[in-house]
Amino acid sequence: MLSIQNLTAAVDAKTILKGLTLEVPAGEVHAIMGPNGAGKSTLGYALAGRPNYDITGGSVTFNGEDLLDKEVHERAAAGLYLSFQYPLEIPGVPALTFLRTALNSQKKLRGEAEVTAPEFLKKVREVAKSLRIDMDMLKRPLNVGFSGGEKKRMEVLQMAMLEPKFLILDETDSGLDIDALKVVSDGVNALRAPDRGMLVITHYQRLLDHIKPDQVHVLVAGKIVRSGGPELALELEAHGYDQYLGVAA
Ligand SMILES: Nc1ncnc2c1ncn2[C@@H]1O[C@H](COP(=O)(O)OP(=O)(O)OP(=O)(O)O)[C@@H](O)[C@H]1O
Ligand SMILES: [Mg+2]
Repeated sequence: MLSIQNLTAAVDAKTILKGLTLEVPAGEVHAIMGPNGAGKSTLGYALAGRPNYDITGGSVTFNGEDLLDKEVHERAAAGLYLSFQYPLEIPGVPALTFLRTALNSQKKLRGEAEVTAPEFLKKVREVAKSLRIDMDMLKRPLNVGFSGGEKKRMEVLQMAMLEPKFLILDETDSGLDIDALKVVSDGVNALRAPDRGMLVITHYQRLLDHIKPDQVHVLVAGKIVRSGGPELALELEAHGYDQYLGVAA
């Protein structure tokens, strides 16, 4: 579904991704772990098409199509969703308005009918309830003044509403209390589907107890240096990244 071959990418002329190869088949959840500054968020941004992230080599195909050829909004309409490590605040735009606009603009690009206000509200109410998000919060400007955990729940609400084909979660677990971790994980698990893939970036094995990955990859210094099953996360938790720091250089 998502196939990354030998990807190299630079930010402000500094090379961060140094030949990264990764394959996530449809229906699978892959986790990426790695030390601070390894390039995990950079990978998410490069895939999402963030400006200033220059792809200097390699290729990425998404459902057989060249992803890197597409504009940011086309990637989103094709079903790629990146959940930011630090969700953006949008003053002046109520969360509900933002969600409905995002959903309908994606539908429009795909040539689908827009959702009506009642349809939209019905679905938002259901999803918000399952994520224990108060509807009043959704009337406030997107993420402005939201607590860290509320922002992360909001991200999962967005995913559930947009129903992307491929999800990249960048530390969606950071800053969540124990109950919220469960709520957010349940929300993510509810999105698991045979035609949907996920890349879960995390520092904590704990998340992977809730969201069971098919594979775990270790990203160090811009490359995947090791891949394995879920047991690899336990090993990293026990031994850290020391053994890989020499490998990647
Ligand atoms: N504009 C920039 N100019 C130079 N270096 C940059 C720029 N933006 C990011 N970097 C560097 O790129 C490297 C990778 O950053 P990235 O955010 O991808 O790391 P990460 O693996 O997500 O780390 P963390 O676990 O802390 O979130 C870091 O060393 C960072 O300082
Ligand atoms: Mg990061």
